[in-house]
Amino acid sequence: MKATELLKKQHREVKAMFKKVEKTEDARGRKQLMEQITQALQLHTRIEEEIFYPAVRGLETRKAQEMIAEALEEHHVVDLVLKDLPNVDPDDERFEAKMTVLSELIEHHIEEEETEMFKLAERLGKDELENLAARMEARTGKGPMRGRQAA
Ligand SMILES: [Fe+2]
Ligand SMILES: [Fe+2]
Repeated sequence: MKATELLKKQHREVKAMFKKVEKTEDARGRKQLMEQITQALQLHTRIEEEIFYPAVRGLETRKAQEMIAEALEEHHVVDLVLKDLPNVDPDDERFEAKMTVLSELIEHHIEEEETEMFKLAERLGKDELENLAARMEARTGKGPMRGRQAA
């Protein structure tokens, strides 16, 4: 599997979780899903930042540098919303508003990664993309994550 395929798979999983939370009525279910989304997103953005983005940046084109810089800023905004979520009661209307904002942000971010960044990443070649996927998978399987470093 190529790195881009692994990341796309995780994108689909996260999108499915957002769909599910929209359809979930009870507060406890929503809170659980919110926790799942948080975990999935933290792991996903982390392996992108530690493994995938540096490889794309290594292509050393201006376009690659710009794309990575923008993506990192978007991750940062996602992080801010995620940090804020546990403070909001899932029954509060602000919870839904925050989930909607987060979902739209993620949609936009995923769209840019998949249409622009992943296309550019093809230049890394099949072998390198497979190698990156293996590294990301190994990273994913390593149990509980250490705390993220402050951005
Ligand atoms: Fe990302
Ligand atoms: Fe992503």
